Amino acid sequence: DWNLDDFIEQQIKLIRETVKDKNVILGLSGGVDSSVAAAIIGKAIGKQLTCIFVDTGLLRKDEAVEVMKAYKTNFDINIKLVDASDLFFSELKGLKEPEAKRKAIGKSFIDVFTNAAREFKDADFLAQGTIYPDVIESSSHGASSKTIKSHHNVGGLPEDLKFELIEPLRNLFKDEVRKVGFKLGLPEEMVNRHPFPGPGLGIRVIEEVTKEKVAILKEVDAIFIKKLREWNLYNSVSQAFVTLLPVKTVGVMGDNRTYDYVVALRSVNTIDFMTATSTHLPWEFLDEVVNEIINKVDNVNRVVYDVTSKPPGTIEWE
Ligand code: XMP
Repeated sequence: DWNLDDFIEQQIKLIRETVKDKNVILGLSGGVDSSVAAAIIGKAIGKQLTCIFVDTGLLRKDEAVEVMKAYKTNFDINIKLVDASDLFFSELKGLKEPEAKRKAIGKSFIDVFTNAAREFKDADFLAQGTIYPDVIESSSHGASSKTIKSHHNVGGLPEDLKFELIEPLRNLFKDEVRKVGFKLGLPEEMVNRHPFPGPGLGIRVIEEVTKEKVAILKEVDAIFIKKLREWNLYNSVSQAFVTLLPVKTVGVMGDNRTYDYVVALRSVNTIDFMTATSTHLPWEFLDEVVNEIINKVDNVNRVVYDVTSKPPGTIEWE
């Protein structure tokens, strides 16, 4: 990996030469790409970098707190947490259709990020964790590429906010980004994180998103992920998560009839996320996960496992 060491050196030098004594802002998502981008830029220019981390209310359980802690212990940069969950929930109110939800989330994100960015009028540069596959994807929106889902990243900032872009990872593939992350000393849980969609849990609560439903989903999802780590399965699957269905079914608990929500567990293995197969998780493992969910989480009385591959299913349900 000597060439990645060289890569890091070169990028640091280049960032310093470009930025000089100016300031940079970067939108953190808690994902690998923006974390590694923040690490390399932080290494180059330290406190001249300010990261903005938007808590949409649609992050995983405790994620906002954990991400802030990880950044504060690992980097000497400025980070600003913006709690915007009320805005996201109110913009999502009444929306059921997946693309309408994605648009509402994307727009709210831009609004919040723009407002936060305006406070840093003295920043001349906007940094992004764009990686090589993103570059390819956005340049190939031609002839045959129909939009199946409107993926969003930061971008689409208003005209009056003019920044020069810094994208230190734009020539790297994901595995190289992870290696760079390790070399820069990022913690393992951060570097080996499964991908998490921009719209977050907003597309994992099917149909209308409410605070109450997201709260249920966070608990269930946290149990699934914790169990995957306990069974040493987390790093052998590409992406795992839970979706809350807009359906209640009848169950029985002790002597009582219950009428509660269904959740669907999904775990996939894939090289490039364009095609994927469902993971053959051990039955004993699934039993344990289901027991803990039913025993610990109110309002859920049924758990199903999604065995659909991609295609025909997409990885997310919306
Ligand atoms: P699908 O559901 O299209 O997902 O098979 C493929 C991969 O992309 C992730 N995904 C997103 N990532 N913004 C993102 O940054 C989005 O809007 C988005 N939608 C889906 C998904 O989690 C999977 O890894």
